[in-house]
Amino acid sequence: MDLAPSLLSANMLNLENELNALVKSNVKYLHIDVMDGSFVPNMGFGPTMVKDIKNNFELILDCHLMTNKPENLVELFATAGADIITVHAEATQHIYHVIQKIKSLGCKAGIAINPGTPVTYIAPLLNIVDLVLVMTINPGISAQEFIADTIDKVSELVYIRTSKNYNFLIEVDGSVSNKTIGFCKGIDIAVAGRYIFNGDIAMNVQSLIKESELAWK
Ligand code: DX5
Ligand code: ZN
Repeated sequence: MDLAPSLLSANMLNLENELNALVKSNVKYLHIDVMDGSFVPNMGFGPTMVKDIKNNFELILDCHLMTNKPENLVELFATAGADIITVHAEATQHIYHVIQKIKSLGCKAGIAINPGTPVTYIAPLLNIVDLVLVMTINPGISAQEFIADTIDKVSELVYIRTSKNYNFLIEVDGSVSNKTIGFCKGIDIAVAGRYIFNGDIAMNVQSLIKESELAWK
């Protein structure tokens, strides 16, 4: 399993040190939440932040667009340096087109589903996406309670991927910690905000990975 620490929980006044600590801890991904105050009741990072991080750190930038009409924004984030652009299935009437557009821009394309959205809703996309993001909280805000009922979607996705020979990665996002990682068996990437950035980053990275290894044995 890989970790994608969520920038939303980083200390912006100490950002350079915190991102260096992630790189030193061999973290591959950085999760960047983009929010428009409409799809979710919060505002988040823009393309300038993506560009500055891309130019200064060796991290795969995993941009999570919690925005309505993501088709209007994907080019901006691709140009800024996003490696993965994940859009919400619920945020557009033209989701297949948006996924094609992300791929044509040279990025990996992810599809995210809210806690109330079933896997069947995105079934026609599973052959073309590079990543499926299962939200384990309502999107938009850190520090919520983990919704355990969402986690059955992970085994459903693993089953579909194996039986159909598809290639997408499975990611979860929301309240991932040493207490909840045990439920997430089968995932490839865990997004974690508070858990990683609260206290000693290197220790938190290590303990979350260790806990997953113990719990998933
Ligand atoms: C929330 C965001 C998450 C958030 C996770 O909607 O998508 O990426 O930062 O933070 P934690 O792990 O603290 O719940
Ligand atoms: Zn996110």
